[in-house]
Amino acid sequence: MIKHLRSAADLDAATATLILDTAAEMAALSGREVKKLPALRGRTVVNLFYEDSTRTRISFEAAAKRLSADVINFSAKGSSVSKGESLKDTALTLQAMGADAVVIRHWASGAPHRLANWVDGSVVNAGDGTHEHPTQALLDAYTMRSRLGRLDGLRVAIVGDVLHSRVARSNVLLLTTLGAQVTVVGPPTLIPLDVAAALSEKTQVSFDLDAVLPDSDVVMMLRVQTERMQDSYFPSAREYSRRYGLDVSRLAKMPEHAIVMHPGPMNRGMEIAPEVADSPRSTIVEQVANGVSVRMAVLYLLLGGK
Ligand code: NCD
Repeated sequence: MIKHLRSAADLDAATATLILDTAAEMAALSGREVKKLPALRGRTVVNLFYEDSTRTRISFEAAAKRLSADVINFSAKGSSVSKGESLKDTALTLQAMGADAVVIRHWASGAPHRLANWVDGSVVNAGDGTHEHPTQALLDAYTMRSRLGRLDGLRVAIVGDVLHSRVARSNVLLLTTLGAQVTVVGPPTLIPLDVAAALSEKTQVSFDLDAVLPDSDVVMMLRVQTERMQDSYFPSAREYSRRYGLDVSRLAKMPEHAIVMHPGPMNRGMEIAPEVADSPRSTIVEQVANGVSVRMAVLYLLLGGK
């Protein structure tokens, strides 16, 4: 087993499949009245969050607690980070407290890689800048597999602000490892110039959502990340959603079995219409539930739980 999960590229097909299979076993637990396993009793998991998060932070906390680990939640706001303490000094403090795993979300791409040099425990990337978010990709793959029965040969469209999306990059890496065919779709300004270099050589590109929808098994909508935009990438929100928003009439162009995904948080009415987000074809709430099982599997396997 690998020690750290910093990138979806850390996972070969066998390791990724082992995580998904273990997550399925963990999911069986959530139906029980007592949801706890003693697997990580006495182990310490630190959640180190330098950037805002709802789903991911709660999900990692729930996952560690269901495995009986001791959980320490650290958020940069209200800590010595606001006094200018560096990531390295914070890491050495965690190291002194004996963290077995550090789950880190950071605004700087690459922060989890640096952190892994300073702590002895496992490092799990919970989202670094515009770089990667590997556990999101795992929970997305888990959701696709459980809804559609397979990943190999699956046609997945990832739509919208691909340029700023760590979710897109991790999904492209993981899904291509697992045999899916990925097409990234969006306005040219929000697709990396060199997709082969930025994402993967196996990724296809399209600027025409309507053309891609009929041939997709999965349509993953991405949030337009205005907080990461310094320039204007499209004329207006209305224009964006007219060309790239998933509304009811576009949903009708998808094959009947196809599903709609979104990592959250959503801009309802922009990249996704409320009726689509709340439709039975949408797996958005399921993705959140699956996230806990997948993160349990990741922590369990990285820490060699029993
Ligand atoms: C994403 C993130 O933070 O990278 N959300 C998530 O983790 N569920 C996507 C986003 O912020 O748009």
